[in-house]
Amino acid sequence: MFERTPMIAGNWKMNLSLDEAVALAQTIGSGIGDTSKVEVLVAPPFTHLAAVRGAIDESRIFLAAQNMHWEMSGAYTGEISGRMLQQSGCTHVILGHSERRTLFGETSEVVNLKVKAASFLGLIPIVCVGETLEEREAERTFDVIKEQLDLSLDNFKADQMMPTTTILAYEPVWAIGTGKTASPEQAEEVHQFIRQWIENTFNTGTASQVRILYGGSVKPDNVKTLMTEPDIDGALVGGASLKGDSFVSLVRYREA
Ligand code: 13P
Repeated sequence: MFERTPMIAGNWKMNLSLDEAVALAQTIGSGIGDTSKVEVLVAPPFTHLAAVRGAIDESRIFLAAQNMHWEMSGAYTGEISGRMLQQSGCTHVILGHSERRTLFGETSEVVNLKVKAASFLGLIPIVCVGETLEEREAERTFDVIKEQLDLSLDNFKADQMMPTTTILAYEPVWAIGTGKTASPEQAEEVHQFIRQWIENTFNTGTASQVRILYGGSVKPDNVKTLMTEPDIDGALVGGASLKGDSFVSLVRYREA
């Protein structure tokens, strides 16, 4: 069986001053020790990317942006292209986060354009999907997730190939920043569904290699049980990624 390397990713959202971001990156860099068995990633705000890149240069931490535009350049006031992200040192980009979907009207069709552009450039997309509380209560979770996957990854379907480096993240909207974590069983059920979707849409090999992260109130005290589930390959962490000690303990979850 293919062994997937776990990833612990910190999504800093619109938080931290430039100095705080650099200091946090340094704390994480020195605190994580030998992380060869866990990939570590941070996603600072755009304006902090280059400075954080400088602060993590000696470490094994990957750098991601939280969003991008799908065009390479042009008259798109206020937007940032994937190429610009690469010039700032990014290797990854978070796409389709629920806050972008719900607060900024980003549709799965738009996410698909971004995924396509990121893949073209060689930026690894971390594509987020997840249902709202209302959708879960209406027992529509699987339909919603399937539709988000079908539309957000339509470019891969058209190519009949999904790069195995692609990362997916299941983030139930009702668990983000609320302190309500999906139980390991609830999360695993959806992760399994996503892996099955990859298998049905592409093939078994791709399904066994693509990592699926869980996001939504992941904390040092619940990460270990989530990570014991077979289809949970890591965590996409908001609040608990903003403090050096809690993020370092998340990365070192095996030692707890
Ligand atoms: P919290 O960990 O603060 O719930 O945020 C999760 C998230 O949205 C990560 O992308």
